[in-house]
Amino acid sequence: MRIGICGTGRMGAAIATRLLGLGHEIAVWNRTAAKTAPLAAAGAQVSATPAALAARSEAVITILTDATAVDAAYRGAEGLLSGDVAGKLFIEMSTVRPETERALDEAVRAKRATLVECPVGGTTGPAKDGKLFGFAGGEAADVARARPILEQMCRRIEHVGPVGAGASMKLAINLPLLVFWQAFGEALALTKPLGLEPARLMDIFTDTSGAPNMLKNRAASVATQLAGGHVAPTVEVDVVRKDLRTMVDEARSRGITLPVTARALECFDQASRAGLGAADCTKLPAYWVERGAHTRD
Ligand SMILES: NC(=O)c1ccc[n+]([C@@H]2O[C@H](COP(=O)([O-])OP(=O)(O)OC[C@H]3O[C@@H](n4cnc5c(N)ncnc54)[C@H](OP(=O)(O)O)[C@@H]3O)[C@@H](O)[C@H]2O)c1
Repeated sequence: MRIGICGTGRMGAAIATRLLGLGHEIAVWNRTAAKTAPLAAAGAQVSATPAALAARSEAVITILTDATAVDAAYRGAEGLLSGDVAGKLFIEMSTVRPETERALDEAVRAKRATLVECPVGGTTGPAKDGKLFGFAGGEAADVARARPILEQMCRRIEHVGPVGAGASMKLAINLPLLVFWQAFGEALALTKPLGLEPARLMDIFTDTSGAPNMLKNRAASVATQLAGGHVAPTVEVDVVRKDLRTMVDEARSRGITLPVTARALECFDQASRAGLGAADCTKLPAYWVERGAHTRD
């Protein structure tokens, strides 16, 4: 199938690699063109604009930072929707608010094309292996049309409602995971006087009921961070801030408060101001242990 991938950041590149490996005819576009080079070397075509990408593709996958990026990619002067896209399928996988997906759905329908949203759980490893967890939103027939592609990216797909429902579900899934990093940093701060080796500390924590699968997967990275080493970012502190802010904004618009999430966001903001915005999120607990040693709140 001729599939276009718009946005070859960490997730988009991993998904492109997966779909190339399955024999699809893949074309890519990215705002920063240099990031498409490894995919071009692996056999992907590179399009000069999102419009050109849409023109040559039967289906287009987008996985971009936030609502601003989605807007630019779809509605920009040479955006995905700027040409004749009647009959094409767009699969939007970014982590954004439901209203972003719903507004996009209207714009895509106005061009007589189809939108299915499918934000995902799982990071670049599962994306390369086709083992993401997809939260699909859209009309049943549209999700059925997208399903053969989604099944090549995801180990599980849950169709949770109309467009916007997938975004709601994804924000909810991410909430406890992201707040966890702050809670875990506070837990580790309590263990600091014990002077235990980071690897041993992680071995103890990951063998308890309080450890999510995510910690089991990322324990080695946390140990490295606690020991002062560097971890190549999988999910940056600033991406976590974007997600937490999106959750808080979404809740506010519905008249709900999320006090723990809002406080976790403040703590991540603080880490970003300290220069850790581009660091992997596993840096946050280590930052909190260090910071807790010389501040009071
Ligand atoms: N990383 C994960 O583990 C993970 C897991 C699940 C979901 N997600 C979600 O997936 C999305 C992508 O995440 P990622 O980790 O792949 O992020 P990333 O590596 O930072 O990539 C972001 C992508 O968005 C593009 N972009 C940003 N602003 C843009 C704009 N104004 N116009 C056009 N393109 C723009 C970037 O282009 P440039 O290269 O030019 O900056 C890049 O292609 C986010 O919504 C994230 O929350 C991430």
